[in-house]
Amino acid sequence: MNKLCIEGDKKLNGSVTISGSKNAALPILFMTILTEEKIKISNVPNLTDINIALQLLVYLGAKVNYKKILSIDTSFINIFSAPYDLIKKIRGSIWILAPLLARFGQAKIFLPGGCKIGSRPIDLHLNGLIKLGATIDLKDNCINAFVKGRLQGKHILMEKISVGATITIMSAATLAQGLTVIENAAREPEIIDIANFLNTLGANIIGAGSNKIFIKGVSKLTGGHHQIIPDRIETGTFLVAAAVSRGCITCHKTEPKHLKSVLIKLTEAGAHIQTGKDWIKLDMREKQPKALNICTLPYPGFPTDMQTQFALLNTIAKGIGTITETIFENRFIYISELINMGAKIKIKHNSIVSNGIPQLCSSNVFCTDLRAAATLVLAGCIAIGITIVNQTYHLVRGYESFPSKLNKLGANIKII
Ligand code: EPZ
Repeated sequence: MNKLCIEGDKKLNGSVTISGSKNAALPILFMTILTEEKIKISNVPNLTDINIALQLLVYLGAKVNYKKILSIDTSFINIFSAPYDLIKKIRGSIWILAPLLARFGQAKIFLPGGCKIGSRPIDLHLNGLIKLGATIDLKDNCINAFVKGRLQGKHILMEKISVGATITIMSAATLAQGLTVIENAAREPEIIDIANFLNTLGANIIGAGSNKIFIKGVSKLTGGHHQIIPDRIETGTFLVAAAVSRGCITCHKTEPKHLKSVLIKLTEAGAHIQTGKDWIKLDMREKQPKALNICTLPYPGFPTDMQTQFALLNTIAKGIGTITETIFENRFIYISELINMGAKIKIKHNSIVSNGIPQLCSSNVFCTDLRAAATLVLAGCIAIGITIVNQTYHLVRGYESFPSKLNKLGANIKII
């Protein structure tokens, strides 16, 4: 898929089933390297990023069988470096490093890829591994990691909250000698899911989800079965789809408690929201959203991965809304595409100020990253006329069957 033709001015109504979380599934796939026993994982979303992760595991020597349930056997891994062309495709490939190092004492991988929303450094990942006793050489864009014997548990104070680095250190510490404490740890639900997965395999992790995680190293892990948590960002994206199209959508197989800050903001915009054990219903029928002021923060603050979707909401809301991005330094590239559709937005340093208009107009727009792609597709669904969305390969990296899920809700999207 690379181009979509979208007929706009649609109201989106109905029910949608949420897929497994991309940002939980990706690290968990790489964590299977930590054990030599068989693993089964369910609710793995069918995404290109996931397929690239599986290709990387197979390249290393793992056996993979992906039917409804994903079976992985990493007992035969005998290669400890991964090819540039695969590593470069996803940010998540950085999470190969720690498990290879922890289990085999060595790893060699190129610097990872990922959405161009900032420089995406990995210094916090590498510093954490060095503190655990690893020797790390970085040259020609390649990371050479080595440890003699086992990694050694340490008390680590993260100088900055980082989801990725918290995951790297937590996974390395799982097989280290002794106790590791990660202070100022990221608290995202995906971190809890990874800790639950590792504890299923016999790890000894407590405190995941708080800013202080304790990991008592074990000598080896067993096999097991894990179900991936629902994707909270896909859920938020469909809730915004209802809010911006003045429709009513129920998201099933999701987890409301992972979206508290998003639901508070959608209620503030005027949406009527109901929630149950594993569903969320948003009703914005016959109502224009009110403009919102938002600041993205580490979890449980407002998620940066929902910034683009709420920027769209503010373009057609009543009043003036400001969104400040504090996590990534270059996550406003897509704003020019919304301005091409008639949005009244000004960028001021790390904030955008929108003056709401009644409706967007169709245009020929270009996706720049995963969440911007989803936002431009939603913009096409509500704009007057036919919108062409280009470079939609970004979309399939993180949204399973997004066009068909939207068409079932009343959109008219054709893949061209
Ligand atoms: C993860 O990225 C997610 N990606 C991102 O989702 C998400 O936006 C981000 O966490 C924040 O929640 C995956 O899980 C694959 P960070 P990650 O380390 O781990 C800086 C999406 O759309 N930093 O929490 O890369 C970094 O530059 C994607 O699904 C360092 O300085 O994010 C950023 O400013 C986009 N040094 C801040 O920390 C490091 O070594 C937070 O980054 C690592 C990060």
